Amino acid sequence: MNIYRMKALLLFIGIFTFTIIFAGEGEDIFKKTCAACHTIGKGRLVGPDLKNVADKQSQEWLVSFIKSSTTKIKSGDAAALAIFEEYNRILMPDNNFTDAQIINVLNYISSGTGAEGQAATATVDILIETGADNVSQGAALFSGNERLTNGGAACTSCHKVRDERVFSSGTLAKDLSQTYELMGSAGIAGIVKNPPFPVMGAAYVNHPLTEDEVINLTAYLKSVSEQRIYQVPTDFSLSFVFLGLVVFMVIIMSSIIIYFNRKKLAVNHDLLSRASNVIN
Ligand code: HEC
Ligand code: HEC
Repeated sequence: MNIYRMKALLLFIGIFTFTIIFAGEGEDIFKKTCAACHTIGKGRLVGPDLKNVADKQSQEWLVSFIKSSTTKIKSGDAAALAIFEEYNRILMPDNNFTDAQIINVLNYISSGTGAEGQAATATVDILIETGADNVSQGAALFSGNERLTNGGAACTSCHKVRDERVFSSGTLAKDLSQTYELMGSAGIAGIVKNPPFPVMGAAYVNHPLTEDEVINLTAYLKSVSEQRIYQVPTDFSLSFVFLGLVVFMVIIMSSIIIYFNRKKLAVNHDLLSRASNVIN
């Protein structure tokens, strides 16, 4: 083999591995970060089916939307606003990926190799057969009355729901009472199984939920949403304001007491007056 052929071959191998690695990266990112909400050719989930999305929008638009859909929507971009309204004003989370990484994801989407979304659809099929048992199991898991098999945090440490069956007070993340109406069981199951939000993802990355837990939690959130109209909202905000006022009063009172009990005179005043008494 002559040297030129050798070089050409090496170059070919180089480009080939490069493509594989980067196409792999696009697939990886899609599965970890996007598949909870999007399918490629399997229909609408939380967000739109992304098959052929490249025919709808320029690459530049897609990259900036995927980086920060919130910025795009706030800027008044008509296409971004329209799709935001169409999807019940659910915000797609912002991402910290580089342009190159996002382009890899877009390439993966248009490569047509990934038909994602079967898992979520399968969950929905199972969900049709769930009953009261699943709901009460889900409630126990949600509130932490029952431990998650792999030791993940109870949902109530971050979320709350308006449901008198469950005491929940988490305020770090969204109230989930209405989530089912917004994203359906496929959306919830997809998110719970593979959380696309950094904070929630970090809580479960080493403590994945089992398939049954995903189903029970989804069944529970569905039932919360269906019963929501009958529920008196468990709203603690006023009692917290009241507690705040009491604590504030106590602090003010003790400052006043401390103020009146303070030493008003110089440290050597007693000594001096005793001394002057002796002299007099
Ligand atoms: C939490 C759910 C969620 C996640 C995760 C998510 N998206 Fe979205 N996405 C949406 C929703 C909802 C919309 C519809 C627009 C809106 O509501 O802002 C959307 C819209 C889009 C659009 C515009 C589609 C169109 O037809 O104009 C693209 C492109 C997109 N997402 C790509 C991605 C990519 C790539 C990822 C992964 C890096 C991702 N999304 C992760 C929910 C999500
Ligand atoms: C460590 C905190 C944390 C824990 C624990 C947690 N989540 Fe989340 N979750 C979040 C954050 C943050 C979001 C992103 C939306 C937001 O800011 O509220 C989110 C979003 C969601 C969403 C999408 C809501 C929407 O309207 O976009 C669902 C559904 C959800 N969580 C379900 C659950 C369930 C079920 C559990 C228990 C298995 C759980 N979460 C545990 C932090 C958490």
